[in-house]
Amino acid sequence: MSVPSPEPTDAAPAVPGPQIRQLILQLAASLAVLSLAWPYYGIRNETLPWPQTALAIGAAAGLLASLSRQPWWWRVMHALFAPLAWSVSTLGIDPGWFLLLFITLLLVYRGAAGGQVPLYFSNRPTAAALARITAELPDLRFLDLGAGIGSVLLPLARERPDAHFTGVENAPATWLLGRLRTAGLANCDWRWGDLWRSDFAAYNVVYAFLSPAPMAALWNKVEQEMPPGSLLISNSFAVPSIPPTYVIDVADARQTRLYCYRSGNPRH
Ligand SMILES: C[S@@+](CC[C@H](N)C(=O)[O-])C[C@H]1O[C@@H](n2cnc3c(N)ncnc32)[C@H](O)[C@@H]1O
Repeated sequence: MSVPSPEPTDAAPAVPGPQIRQLILQLAASLAVLSLAWPYYGIRNETLPWPQTALAIGAAAGLLASLSRQPWWWRVMHALFAPLAWSVSTLGIDPGWFLLLFITLLLVYRGAAGGQVPLYFSNRPTAAALARITAELPDLRFLDLGAGIGSVLLPLARERPDAHFTGVENAPATWLLGRLRTAGLANCDWRWGDLWRSDFAAYNVVYAFLSPAPMAALWNKVEQEMPPGSLLISNSFAVPSIPPTYVIDVADARQTRLYCYRSGNPRH
C-alpha cells in the first residue's frame, strides 16, 4: 500500500535555540574583556597581549557559564574555547580548512546544530527487537524520525515486504547515504525533510532515536496526530512525566532501552 507524503503541519519543534544562547555568552565574555583590555593597552601604547587576553576571555566565559547555571560540560567548553582558539591560530593553518571542516560537519550533523539531535545509529539487536515488537501488526506503516543512514529501515523493510516504511532525514550527507542504501526497496520511502513538518497521521508506528531535548514536544505531536492505539517507540530517551506503556530491554552491549508509548488520542 502507499502512504501519503507527510505534509507540513503546524506542530513546530518546541525546542528553543540553546546554541544561540551559548554563542551570546561567549560573545559577551569576549566583549567584556576586550572593552577593558583594548583601551588599557591602547592608552599605554602597548600591543594587546593575545595569550593573556584569550585566557581572560576564557575565565570570563567560564564565570558567566557558572553564573547562568550551565551544565558542567558547557562551563568547561566556555573556559577552554578562547585559549584553544588562540593556540590553534598560532599554527598558521589556512582558514579554508576550517571552512571545509565546518561545511562537512554541517552536512553530517545538521540535526545537532538545529535541534540538539546528534547522529548515532541504532544497532542490529535494536533493529531485531523492533522487528519483534511490530511482528504481529497487520498493515504496518512505520515512520523513522531522523532516519540517519537507514540502520533501522533497511533491515525492517527487507524482513517485512508486506509492510510500508518511511524515513525522514534532514542532514544532507546521511540522507544521501540512506537514499542509496534503500534505493532497491519498493516498500521503503526515503524522504528529505524535517520531522517536525511531517504529518504522523498515516502511520501506526513511529520510531525515534533522538535526544532528551525534543521528547516532550514529540509526544504532543504524537498525541495530536496519530490515531489511538498507535505506537511511539523511543530508543533510549523517555518522554518526561509520561509513564511508558512498556519498556523493552535490548540484549546489547550498550543496554539499549526501548520506551514504548501507546497513543490514546480520542479525537480520531
Ligand atoms: C540519533 S540519529 C538516529 C538515526 C536512525 N534513526 C537510527 O536509529 O539509526 C538521529 C537522526 O535524526 C536526524 N535529525 C535530527 N533532527 C532532525 C529533524 N528535525 N528532521 C529530520 N531528521 C532529523 C539526524 O540528522 C540524525 O540522522
